[in-house]
Amino acid sequence: MTKLTVQALQWTGDALKVLDQRQLPETIAYDVYDDAAGVHDAIATMRVRGAPAIGIAAAYGVVLSAYRHYRASPTQWREKVATDMAMLAQSRPTAVNLFTALATMKTALEQADEQPLVALLACAQGIHADDVAANHRMGELGADIIGHAQGILTHCNTGALATGGYGTALGVIRSVRQRQDVAVFAGETRPWLQGARLTVWELSQEGIPVTLIADSAAAWLMKSGAIDWVIVGADRIAANGDTANKIGTYALAVLARHHQVKLMVVAPTTTIDWSIPSGDGIEIEQRHAQELLPACYHTPDSLVSAWNPVFDVTPAALISAIVTERGVVMMPSAETMENLR
Ligand code: MRU
Repeated sequence: MTKLTVQALQWTGDALKVLDQRQLPETIAYDVYDDAAGVHDAIATMRVRGAPAIGIAAAYGVVLSAYRHYRASPTQWREKVATDMAMLAQSRPTAVNLFTALATMKTALEQADEQPLVALLACAQGIHADDVAANHRMGELGADIIGHAQGILTHCNTGALATGGYGTALGVIRSVRQRQDVAVFAGETRPWLQGARLTVWELSQEGIPVTLIADSAAAWLMKSGAIDWVIVGADRIAANGDTANKIGTYALAVLARHHQVKLMVVAPTTTIDWSIPSGDGIEIEQRHAQELLPACYHTPDSLVSAWNPVFDVTPAALISAIVTERGVVMMPSAETMENLR
């Protein structure tokens, strides 16, 4: 059964419509933003999340900034847009797609002279369209290397909700499911529950069966022999293949190696940060303790605190394959990653 996938982001013509992912799956609600500050807020509060989607949203945020400031002052608008871009860059630290998209928009801004608003919108829409195309290409490339499999485990949400459409890891799972009847397992992805709230909802919207597991059940599931591949996305990949992704990915990688399960990372090349030689250089976002702590401990005098890193780094040595739209790198290392440059 093929249905249109859900859409996290829609350009309305003069605003950005964002599906509020904090409320899924109970409530399907959209927010409409007409300025960069709103888009910054949507990213920081995780109404929109997922590395590629964050980058696309930021690109549209630059367009909204340009619309507002160019109309107010066609002579002095560029400084104000630059200030808004600096604000957007502060929205979240780990997903490099945010910074890649802002760099692309900066180049477009510098080159745009006549009809700058048209040029900036075309650039943002190009970033959006390129991401969708990359996802479809990665879906095919990833499915090609799966071979016969009985079970796949994924983590977080890497689907249409996290990207321009189709998805990275979830895109590969979609493509695999078109070829074979593989069982799909999704980890809850505590504490924000991207797996339990988003991935199972997104797959069920398309009629793809999925089995939810508690994150802590992954080792036992792998020991049962039900899983051939763990397939995940990425927020930033260092030049040597070390991969930052949702907290818990590293644990799955260690478990996968112990159980002879293969680990595939699926990400567009906009997620590779060639300026960082290894994962040691990746900033890991820490989110507020209150996102983890039960409400009764949210008091100033509480003796209970929380450590809440929301990403971790999986060493390249634990990764079987990195799939990008430019090709697949098996056994990633500083040398083999060079094939993607
Ligand atoms: O905190 P989130 O929900 O933005 O984290 C998302 C992830 O970690 C995804 O796995 C990653 O962005 C890849 S999405 C295609």
